[in-house]
Amino acid sequence: MELDIIHLKEIDSTNKYCYKLGKDGKRNLIVVSDVQTGGVGRLERKWYSDFGGLYFSILLDLEEFKKECKNDNIGKLNFLGSLSTYETLNCYLKDFKTVGCIGIKFPNDIIVNVENKDKKLSGILSEININYGFLVLGIGINVNNKIHDEIKDIATSLKELEGKEFDRFKILNKFIDNFKNNYYLNDDEVLKGYKKYSKTMGKYVKVITPKEEIKGTVFDIDYNGIHLATSDGIKHISVGDCVHLRKDKR
Ligand code: BTN
Repeated sequence: MELDIIHLKEIDSTNKYCYKLGKDGKRNLIVVSDVQTGGVGRLERKWYSDFGGLYFSILLDLEEFKKECKNDNIGKLNFLGSLSTYETLNCYLKDFKTVGCIGIKFPNDIIVNVENKDKKLSGILSEININYGFLVLGIGINVNNKIHDEIKDIATSLKELEGKEFDRFKILNKFIDNFKNNYYLNDDEVLKGYKKYSKTMGKYVKVITPKEEIKGTVFDIDYNGIHLATSDGIKHISVGDCVHLRKDKR
């Protein structure tokens, strides 16, 4: 798979830009921007995108993705993105306080647990346009960017964790290598990798959906969602926000 890279100084959102390019018939591109003026996260949240972070989106052809991946499981793209981002960032956490602290929080946040607190290092937002036949995988990584006061308790950056600056483009290239390697793995292999690095598996969690909030212990995650053992029996939830709870907060 060949991916051409477009590097911009500033854009509202690399996902939105890829979406426009997708409608114009463009495919197999990575758009990376130094700054996003309207970065978007999951559930229409804002994604802070100051200079110093790594903000990029990959535009893929839907039919090609299905064919190459030998499956119909579009949700696999999120798992591929999480696994490749995890593998990329894990290489940079070398301090005695941060080594081994990184993992994937369901559905696709990359978090680190330092001083007994989970903080987000990276987030993923994928989008699909069935009519025009394309997929967009957007990834935001806090590298050297300032973490705003409003999110200081829940977010961190590589710079904050390791006490030094990192080359964003080396990180991007490493990600691309990992993504290309993982792209040809079958569904089971991707899921196995994702679950191996999941920090949500086995945890007591609260999953928030537009309709309800469900608490339970996670016993499985697959392409259909998250599976919980709750006081009302087994529950399966396909989409939702997941909060890791402490055992004493039952
Ligand atoms: C989340 O955790 O809520 C997902 C965050 C995704 C942010 C990235 S940054 C690059 C791409 N462009 C966007 O506007 N969003 C994604």
